[in-house]
Amino acid sequence: MVKEQSDKSALRDNFRDVGFWNPTQILPHEIGAVIHRMDLNECPHPPSPRVVEAIKLAANDLNRYPDGTCPELAERLSEQSKLPKEQICFGGGSTQLLTSIAEITVGPNENIVSPEIVWRRFQGVYRVVAADVTFVPNKDNGGIAVDQLIKSINNQTKLLVVLTPNNPTGLMLSEEEIYTVCHETPENVMLFIDEAYYEFALFAGGVDALSILKNRKGPWVLTRTFSKAYALAGLRLGYAFCSSEEVANALRLATSTFNVNGVAEKAVLAALDDTEYTKFILESNALEMSKIKTKCQELGLKYMDSVTNFISIDVGVPNGELVQKMRDRGIRISTPGYEQTGTFIRVSSGLPEETSNFLIALEEILGEMRN
Ligand SMILES: Cc1ncc(COP(=O)(O)O)c(C=O)c1O
Repeated sequence: MVKEQSDKSALRDNFRDVGFWNPTQILPHEIGAVIHRMDLNECPHPPSPRVVEAIKLAANDLNRYPDGTCPELAERLSEQSKLPKEQICFGGGSTQLLTSIAEITVGPNENIVSPEIVWRRFQGVYRVVAADVTFVPNKDNGGIAVDQLIKSINNQTKLLVVLTPNNPTGLMLSEEEIYTVCHETPENVMLFIDEAYYEFALFAGGVDALSILKNRKGPWVLTRTFSKAYALAGLRLGYAFCSSEEVANALRLATSTFNVNGVAEKAVLAALDDTEYTKFILESNALEMSKIKTKCQELGLKYMDSVTNFISIDVGVPNGELVQKMRDRGIRISTPGYEQTGTFIRVSSGLPEETSNFLIALEEILGEMRN
C-alpha cells in the first residue's frame, strides 16, 4: 500500500480527505504591506495596556503547569453570573469548547439539530463527531427559525445548537425566542447556546440568555469568549456555563487538564478590571458599524441588521469576485460561505481609517463590477 493510502485507512471515515483551510494565512503579496484585517471578526484595537502588563508579570511563571480550572477567574465569573464556580469551565477559545460539547453528547450517527446558516466551524464540529445533522433553514431575514428547530427534534437528537448572535448574520434572538428554545427543547436533549458576541448584543439592548437558561429543566451549556469585546483573540480563552457540575466535569475531561494557560487567566482578569477600556471598544465598534450601515443605505445595499462587530451585506454582485478585488487592495473581508448568500459579503468593523478605506473601495469596486 502506498503511504498516503495506508495513512488514510488508519483514519476514521469522517476524518479522511478533510483538507485544510487557514483563514489567518498571510499571502505573499501581503507580507510587509499595510493590511486591513476585516475578515475574522477580530477587535481592531490592541488589548488594554493593563492586560499587556499582566501578561509580562505572569510570564515569569511559565515553567509551571497552570491550574486549568482558572480558580480566580472562575470565582469572578461565578460572582457575576451567580452560578457555582464548579459549573464554569474553560477552553482554548470557545471553539475548543464547542467541539467538546458535541463530543460529550453525540455519538456517531446520532442527531444534531442546527440552523442551516451558522458559523462555519460548526460544520467541522459536526464532522468530528460523525453526527447525522438536521439543518433547519433560517428565516427569510437570516434569523434562526427557533420554532422549526424544535419541530425538527427526533428520537435520535442529542444536541440542539443555537447562536445568539449568530455568525455570519450578526442577528440575535428575541427574549421570547430564547424563552421558547430554553423551555421547549426536550429534557433529554442538550441545549447549546453560543454567545461569542454576548457583550455586543447586551450593549445593543439584547437579553442575557443565561438568566432564562437557569430555569430550564433539561441540560444546557452556554459559551462565551474573551476573543471579541476584550480584544484577546490571540490569547485563546473561552468559557462555558453548564447546567450542572456533571456536565462541566465531562467537558473538563474532554478538553484535558492543562488546556488553558496560566498567562491567559491573569490577562483576562486584568481585562475584566479595565471596564473603561471595554466600554471604549464597544462604543467605537458601534460607531464604525453605524458608518457602514449608513453608507449601505446611501448605496441602496441591503444588509442584515447586525448587533455585533461584523455585518453581512448584499452587494448584488458575485461575492467571491468582490472579496478578491478587496484583497488585491489590501482589505481582507470574507463571504458568509453559504449558497443562499451568494451576493453577500461579511465585513468586520475596523479602525476609523480602515472603515473609511473599505467604504471607498466598496463604492469603487461596485462601480467597476456593475459596468
Ligand atoms: C459564533 C462564534 N462562536 C465562536 C467563535 C470562536 O471564538 P473563540 O474560539 O475565539 O473563543 C467565533 C469566532 O469567530 C464565532 O463567530
